[in-house]
Amino acid sequence: MASLHVTLMFRYLVLLLIWLQLASSVFPSNASGVSKPNCIDHCGSVSIPYPFGIGAGCFIDEAFELECNNGVPMYGNIPVSSISLIDGQMTIDILIASSCSNESDENSLTLSKFTVSNTKNKLISIGCDTLVSINGNPPIGEGCSDCTTNEDATDDGSCNGMGCCKTSIPAGLRQSNVTVEREYPRKNMSLDNPCSYAFVAEEDSFRFSSSYLQDFKNNGTGRVRVVVDWTIGSETCDEVATEVTSNACGPNTVCIPGNNDTQGYRCNCKSGYAGNPYLPYVDANTTGYCQETVKCNDNSISGCSIPPPPPLPSSEISPLIKVNKIVAG
Ligand SMILES: *[C@@H]1O[C@H](CO)[C@@H](O)[C@H](O)[C@H]1NC(C)=O
Ligand SMILES: *[C@@H]1O[C@H](CO)[C@@H](O)[C@H](O)[C@H]1NC(C)=O
Ligand SMILES: *[C@@H]1O[C@H](CO)[C@@H](O)[C@H](O)[C@H]1NC(C)=O
Ligand SMILES: *[C@@H]1O[C@H](CO)[C@@H](O)[C@H](O)[C@H]1NC(C)=O
Ligand SMILES: *[C@@H]1O[C@H](CO)[C@@H](O)[C@H](O)[C@H]1NC(C)=O
Ligand SMILES: *[C@@H]1O[C@H](CO)[C@@H](O)[C@H](O)[C@H]1NC(C)=O
Ligand SMILES: *[C@@H]1O[C@H](CO)[C@@H](O)[C@H](O)[C@H]1NC(C)=O
Repeated sequence: MASLHVTLMFRYLVLLLIWLQLASSVFPSNASGVSKPNCIDHCGSVSIPYPFGIGAGCFIDEAFELECNNGVPMYGNIPVSSISLIDGQMTIDILIASSCSNESDENSLTLSKFTVSNTKNKLISIGCDTLVSINGNPPIGEGCSDCTTNEDATDDGSCNGMGCCKTSIPAGLRQSNVTVEREYPRKNMSLDNPCSYAFVAEEDSFRFSSSYLQDFKNNGTGRVRVVVDWTIGSETCDEVATEVTSNACGPNTVCIPGNNDTQGYRCNCKSGYAGNPYLPYVDANTTGYCQETVKCNDNSISGCSIPPPPPLPSSEISPLIKVNKIVAG
């Protein structure tokens, strides 16, 4: 009985040591598997996965440089709310064009390298008698926000032309100038609709409320969420496939071409692997963060998780917990 116990304990210790070694090879030294080693891997509650980074040596090129400003990651002067490696997208919070008088208002968004996703975002207009344009082209005009009484715009949740309109944006926009203008004279000057608003925003994160006709985001001083597409460099997948040194995709990855309007490429872990495909080399023992999912216990985009430690042998749990403490301490 005693010797069986010792054997079980010994086997468990061996398993535990193997696990500790595996865990430290998946996450060597200070590396989280999200960012480069010795780089900040989050700012506030936002994860900052490489190729993005904060601080010298932490991003792949200047287009991916962020700053952490009081717990808010900043892309230039624009707050970032999330980064997705799998989709090659980033969400940012941008300002709104708003007009509360007969003066028009314009709001510009300029992205140096990335583009505004035309599949995830729509141009949205809130207000009555409102004319909206993007880059000088008026896709939302008179008649769209057609509300002659406040009761016309009580259809909460749907942005269907009564006090709220939405329309597609062109693909591949690096710059968007959104202008909003109120039609004068208004159709019904006694309508309780002090301001009109226009913005490009993530369609899924916007839900119209008729109360927005009275006030949206503090008379348009707040921000709305936009999805941005990003790619690495300007080369194609075929071009980088032959130049290993400039290929941002690490081992066990697939290269994903940018679309027609976006140059460059992205990387994903190949099927059966998970992790950060852009971290090719971490140290002498870790080449590539795309790890086989059998070694990972989830598919999280932020990196391959350490597998759970080996289960305790079924008998005599309490002495083994002591052993565990000695090993860990
Ligand atoms: C290790 O990571 C922590 C937390 O992210 C960070 O504060 C620290 O500076 C890092 N250490 C080194 C040596 O980079
Ligand atoms: C806006 O209204 C003011 C006062 O009613 C008027 O003086 C001004 O010319 C108008 N501006 C435009 C652009 O219509
Ligand atoms: C946006 O507006 C700026 C300043 O008014 C202008 O220089 C730029 O050409 C405009 N961009 C587009 C795409 O219309
Ligand atoms: C103008 O709007 C008010 C408030 O909704 C409504 O009572 C009134 O009937 C409207 N006037 C016209 C001419 O539609
Ligand atoms: C919005 O503007 C209207 C009209 O100028 C004003 O009465 C109201 O107090 C403003 N609301 C906020 C939240 O600033
Ligand atoms: C890309 O452009 C080609 C040729 O203009 C066109 O046939 C194809 O459908 C486009 N693909 C996408 C995803 O827009
Ligand atoms: C790589 O692994 C070996 C053996 O486990 C270890 O001695 C060495 O310190 C590791 N190197 C690094 C850079 O972690």
